[in-house]
Amino acid sequence: TVVIAWNSTQKAPLVKTRNRALELLYEFQHAAATPLHALRQIAEHMAIEMRAGLRRGGKSNLLMLPTYVENLPDGDEEGLFYALDLGGTNFRVLRCLLGGKDGRVLKQEFEEVSIPKALMLGTSAELFDFIAERLVDFVSREGEGFKTRNGMQQTVREMGLTFSFPVKQQSVKSGAIIQWSKGFDIADGVGADVVALLQSAINRQRGPKIEVAVLVNDTVGTLAGGRYWNEDVMVGMILGTGTNACYVEHDLPSHVQSGSGEMIINMEWGGFWSSHLPRTFADEQLDKESLNPGQAGYEKMIGGMYLGEIVRRVLLRMEKEASLFGGPVPSKLKEPFSLITPEIAKMHADESKNLRVVAKVLRDVFGVQKTDLAARRIVHDVCDIVIMRSARLAAAGIVGIFKKIGGEAFDSTDSRTLTNLHWDSQEPQQLDTKRIVVAVDGGLYEHCTQYRVYMRAAVNELLSEAGAKRLQIVLSKDGSGIGASILAARHSQHRGANKI
Ligand code: GLC
Repeated sequence: TVVIAWNSTQKAPLVKTRNRALELLYEFQHAAATPLHALRQIAEHMAIEMRAGLRRGGKSNLLMLPTYVENLPDGDEEGLFYALDLGGTNFRVLRCLLGGKDGRVLKQEFEEVSIPKALMLGTSAELFDFIAERLVDFVSREGEGFKTRNGMQQTVREMGLTFSFPVKQQSVKSGAIIQWSKGFDIADGVGADVVALLQSAINRQRGPKIEVAVLVNDTVGTLAGGRYWNEDVMVGMILGTGTNACYVEHDLPSHVQSGSGEMIINMEWGGFWSSHLPRTFADEQLDKESLNPGQAGYEKMIGGMYLGEIVRRVLLRMEKEASLFGGPVPSKLKEPFSLITPEIAKMHADESKNLRVVAKVLRDVFGVQKTDLAARRIVHDVCDIVIMRSARLAAAGIVGIFKKIGGEAFDSTDSRTLTNLHWDSQEPQQLDTKRIVVAVDGGLYEHCTQYRVYMRAAVNELLSEAGAKRLQIVLSKDGSGIGASILAARHSQHRGANKI
């Protein structure tokens, strides 16, 4: 027995507070759990919502937006193209010299610029003027190495615009902004054509002639970038600040016309909701205090913008109710978004015996000078729960898509064999044994090794062995930017002038 002398003027005794903190940890772990039966329901629900969202007037929490991208890259694309990638706290500009089948990406260069917070909440003109200025500056610094054969005649620079927010496209190069998310809130942007906004900002700069040839979501850019190298890529997915997926639909509803019979559909799966999603007190608080309460529920459990914030809210509660760090509550711990996801990924990757990295992050971020090992272990566990939940929920989403586009018979509970499948695709023969490759871009997937392991493990649990073998998930680093420039090449209006 441990006997602890304690009077009310002293701090709570260690053993008692640890017990309360552990209780809170187990409560949170329970609420955030993703057992297989729940994941299965989520995958099922995703597939159902996809079908509903595709129907004209169908009610669904997935927007299932037609992208008008109906011709996917095949490697023949040639010439110098630009891309501008806007959708997180940074935007990127990129130039890319494409050499056709033999050369592929001959040369590329990019620059990344962080967007001042005030511009994320200002007016569309302010935001797009800022971006256009940097873009024009980047384009005018085009080096000799990027000259094409007809370089002198090439007076127009064509560009793919990757815009990572929901857009109702009218064509492959125009579309109205539906809503903002991920910390952006620019009231006068909603309803406006994002290409027109950017194009007029570019024109105001009076620099080199730059034309937007395609407008794509980042998932679409990622799919196209992946497809450029691998013809089995059917799904593009982002696991970064936000999360979303798109895929190649062959079974298009009659109101969506496509010459090729297929089209990429941008699911906007961040808006997905299912009662099987494991919601905790931290998710509820976060949602209530966000810029878009009641929206993007799935994204708020998966996206990198939110994971650190969920962990912070759990730690704050543990500190308030169980003096996790010995009190008083550090002011930084009370500050929303003070703990960013890269920091929780760092803590999560800490394999040292004393959890030295965890101690350092707690010191650097919250100013907690001294922590004991038991507290650090609890912090590590909270990070693990949040990261694992995100990875497993994303996996359920992928399996939902897989079911929709022809992998229905590969459910891990399904004993049907390859010869007696039920398909809902119109081209079953082509899809039945083909691999389905998912191209993923985004920091969460790229930088957090354990994330990939958790995601794959959940996919394997959800699918039979044969199904799991067919479904491949590959990292497509910077795929969304390169993909947009490749799609700009496919949709070029000035192809002749841009031969290499
Ligand atoms: C948000 C946007 C979506 C984007 C995703 C990933 O969910 O609405 O368009 O693809 O973030 O960046």
